[in-house]
Amino acid sequence: MTDLVLPSETNPLNNLFGGELLARMDRAASISARRHSRRITVTASVNHVAFNHAVPLGSVVTVEAAVSRAFKTSMEIFIDVWIEDRFTGDRTKANEAIYTFVAVDDTGKPTEVPPLAPETDLEKERYAAALRRKQLSLVLAGKLPPSEATELKALFLD
Ligand SMILES: CC(C)(COP(=O)(O)OP(=O)(O)OC[C@H]1O[C@@H](n2cnc3c(N)ncnc32)[C@H](O)[C@@H]1OP(=O)(O)O)[C@@H](O)C(=O)NCCC(=O)NCCS
Repeated sequence: MTDLVLPSETNPLNNLFGGELLARMDRAASISARRHSRRITVTASVNHVAFNHAVPLGSVVTVEAAVSRAFKTSMEIFIDVWIEDRFTGDRTKANEAIYTFVAVDDTGKPTEVPPLAPETDLEKERYAAALRRKQLSLVLAGKLPPSEATELKALFLD
């Protein structure tokens, strides 16, 4: 999803307002979750956001979203944000985020999604770590007892 940064979307430093970027990332992630599941999808959680670089007024910003892992009804979506150099067209990675979307039926009840097979090294790396991130998100949300977070515990025992 590529779009410009307009004056109404900036903070007093003339950089893109964080909430505007969150909304753009949510939209791109929603499209990728919907394409994977072919269902209605809702944002369940924002697991990670890193605003590493400011995005100046007038920038051309590309938000790339891809499902990194599909679980039973939820999908982890990885989002990479790129800024394009006005003169050379070269792209620089500005930010990244990880969202969780859930596929739901017409009544809003979670419904199953197809599995995802990672292919590239990066896809395999993101896929492998997704369960750990899911468990962390559930623990922080109070939806999983830490004692059941097997992948998280393994991090400290290795
Ligand atoms: C997201 C939602 C559908 C989950 O419903 P729920 O009753 O908690 O459903 P479940 O407990 O069965 O969880 C469904 C899936 O979401 C996952 N999930 C729920 N909360 C999560 C969280 N905080 N982090 C990561 N995953 C989460 C569960 O692990 C489960 O995944 P799985 O089936 O792949 O194993 C429900 O909370 C909802 O509709 N929330 C509002 C969504 C919305 O309106 N978003 C826009 C915000 S304005």
